[in-house]
Amino acid sequence: MTEARYHWNRPHLLTLEELSADDIAALLDTARALKEVSTRSIKKVPALRGKVVVNLFFEDSTRTRTSFRLAAQRLSADVVDFAVSTSSVSKGESLADTARNIEAMGVDAMVIRHRSSGTPELLSRLVSCSVINAGDGSHEHPTQGLLDVFTIQESLQKTDRRISDIHCAIVGDIIHSRVARSNLWALTKLGAKVTLVGPSTMCPRSLEKLGVSVSHNLDEVLPHVDVINMLRVQFERLTSAAFPSLREYHHLFGLTEARLACCRPDVLVLHPGPMNRGLEITSAVADGPRAAILRQVTNGLAVRMAVLYLCVGAAATRG
Ligand code: NCD
Repeated sequence: MTEARYHWNRPHLLTLEELSADDIAALLDTARALKEVSTRSIKKVPALRGKVVVNLFFEDSTRTRTSFRLAAQRLSADVVDFAVSTSSVSKGESLADTARNIEAMGVDAMVIRHRSSGTPELLSRLVSCSVINAGDGSHEHPTQGLLDVFTIQESLQKTDRRISDIHCAIVGDIIHSRVARSNLWALTKLGAKVTLVGPSTMCPRSLEKLGVSVSHNLDEVLPHVDVINMLRVQFERLTSAAFPSLREYHHLFGLTEARLACCRPDVLVLHPGPMNRGLEITSAVADGPRAAILRQVTNGLAVRMAVLYLCVGAAATRG
């Protein structure tokens, strides 16, 4: 990064596709600095004291919502969890009305998860506070992409390798995965090699136009990669059967101990959660020494602190 001249000036985090390599590096550097706060006995810094962050989750979430909440609290912001089921949205209020009403209470950032792709971008045009995308449909999940790259970077710390030396396989239900899309943008912008792997119904060749390789054969790819990011099969987004049976999917694309034995000994296994244990990944692998799945969750907090800190700061100086 060109540190002397670089200055983060984005009030929103909507996609990783629109960020430069310098932007991504700035977020990761800030996350690295903020990770230390969570190891203190008093896990708080005053960076966002007096600021208000609202969590607007229109889709189910455990870890992302909690992680954003804790991240805002560790920066000393006030946090409101907006519960869609008990709100006026269930009475038919539009997103625009809901957002403008919440903003009128004096909000500095809205963290939004929505089943429709593009909703965070729409929201950013309706309100003047920061808008952070916490997952929109099958489009993007920027903080997940960032925390995955952060976790990969951390695993490289004791080596002389960088992200640009890494070959990462992203495996499974690519077509429905906002995690895959955000990962591939972050990884390719930082110079990594990416191979998408899955059945042709979930991982079509047309994805090659995004600057990545596509394979339908996991066993061919595994020996050559440094990182394997296993995705959840998104049953809630499947409109028809994308594979003959769960047994067949597991047989061809499940990460098992036998498959891990064919990988490089230092391979890193990631999964964004929630996991379908026994389908895309076995418990032995998920709970084994190569998996960084809980480290991803820990790092998610630092990454979300960095995103809130930088975006709310940029929105405040914009006035
Ligand atoms: C992901 C999501 O919601 O997109 N989960 C998460 O944020 N931890 C991945 C998934 O649901 O499979």
